[in-house]
Amino acid sequence: MKTVTLAFGTRPEAIKMAPVYRALAGRAGLRVRVLLTGQHRQQLEQALAVFEVPADRDLEVMTERQRLPDLFGRIVPAAARALAELESDYVLVHGDTLTTFAVAWAAFLEGVPVGHVEAGLRSGRLDEPFPEEANRRLTDVLTDLALAPTPTAAANLRAEGHDPERIVVTGQTGIDAVRFAAARGRLPADLPPGPYVTVTLHRRENWPLLAELAAALARVARAHPEFTFVYPVHKNPVVREAVRPALADQPNFVLLEPLEFSEMAALLAASELIVTDSGGLQEEGAALGVPVVVARNVTERPEGLAAGALRLGGNDPEKLARAVNELLCDPDQRARMAAAPNPFGDGRAGGRVADAVAWRLGLGPRPADWAPSPEAGPDAG
Ligand code: UD1
Ligand code: UDP
Repeated sequence: MKTVTLAFGTRPEAIKMAPVYRALAGRAGLRVRVLLTGQHRQQLEQALAVFEVPADRDLEVMTERQRLPDLFGRIVPAAARALAELESDYVLVHGDTLTTFAVAWAAFLEGVPVGHVEAGLRSGRLDEPFPEEANRRLTDVLTDLALAPTPTAAANLRAEGHDPERIVVTGQTGIDAVRFAAARGRLPADLPPGPYVTVTLHRRENWPLLAELAAALARVARAHPEFTFVYPVHKNPVVREAVRPALADQPNFVLLEPLEFSEMAALLAASELIVTDSGGLQEEGAALGVPVVVARNVTERPEGLAAGALRLGGNDPEKLARAVNELLCDPDQRARMAAAPNPFGDGRAGGRVADAVAWRLGLGPRPADWAPSPEAGPDAG
């Protein structure tokens, strides 16, 4: 019996690891363990609740307004001990958070092989998103198995000299997750009637601009009273303090506490437009057929731009407001974006990740690489 430990600590990691947990649990010859760093507390628990993923260890590292070097210092030794106690033969980390790199580093130092789910995403700029681009590059250096969501991510890894045999293209596990959740979710209670524009902003490199970005979106909302803007605000106090003053008095801008993932998925599916600096929402919009304006200057998800599902709005407040306003004024442009093919996944990525891990542990063959089918529409796959 081989033990595979899934290690994660924030909301997006939990959501995108849940399909991997489900695919690995119950496989012959494998025991699955879940190690939470607890980098997030409430948001992590909300994300886990939808999927009923049990935790075997929780390092409970979150503190109010945590500083990243301190967080790293708490995670590495505690994760190294927990990986040993859980008798881990293999560890899977996800994505690009501090948890991702800190656990990968701890595992590497302990001699436990690491598989990286969502490997190979690159914006090409170390300062954007910060510090995520560094976290993912550093993690990829340490991995035994790179689980690339798309052919583009795999090509990035090959270009950096990774062993092509140990890069497996799986599709994005977030697509499995959002389909599962959207099928079960209901809109949040007491939401005013739509049509909806869903907004999320929380990236660190956008922190200095958050108040201005929020004010610019408030102006767009004033010009479009026919839309209800819904913004579930990240728990980070820095984000809350920056955006609330600009948005609290705008009648068609609803500020919510973070939503449980199935409510979030239902809200996204019911939206006319998504405005976000999040990573995962870019893929979820493409999967659900909802156009996305990305509030960043660069994206590590260029497939969505090429397919026509995403538009880069930038993080200059006026420029972003113009991009959002243009789409709200033009239902034909929105319809074209909504009909764009989904390049990110087919809803079966979790199974391919599980197959690839089983292969590395000598329990099965290497799975075939996934490739998007050119005609796959948003809800196809
Ligand atoms: C982190 C990740 C980012 C990811 C994001 C997802 C890093 C460096 N950043 O950013 O890549 O996109 O999570 O949401 O790993 N807080 C709570 N409750 C929660 C969550 C956060 O109170 O459930 C507050 C705490 O005061 C905490 C602060 O938010 O100190 C910041 O959390 P942190 O994980 O450091 O950074 P994020 O900005 O959430
Ligand atoms: N999400 C959620 N509730 C919310 C806001 C976001 O469940 O109130 C989900 C969202 O649908 C996506 C993930 O959380 O699956 C994105 O997380 P976040 O924006 O925190 O991180 P990022 O994607 O930027 O890394």
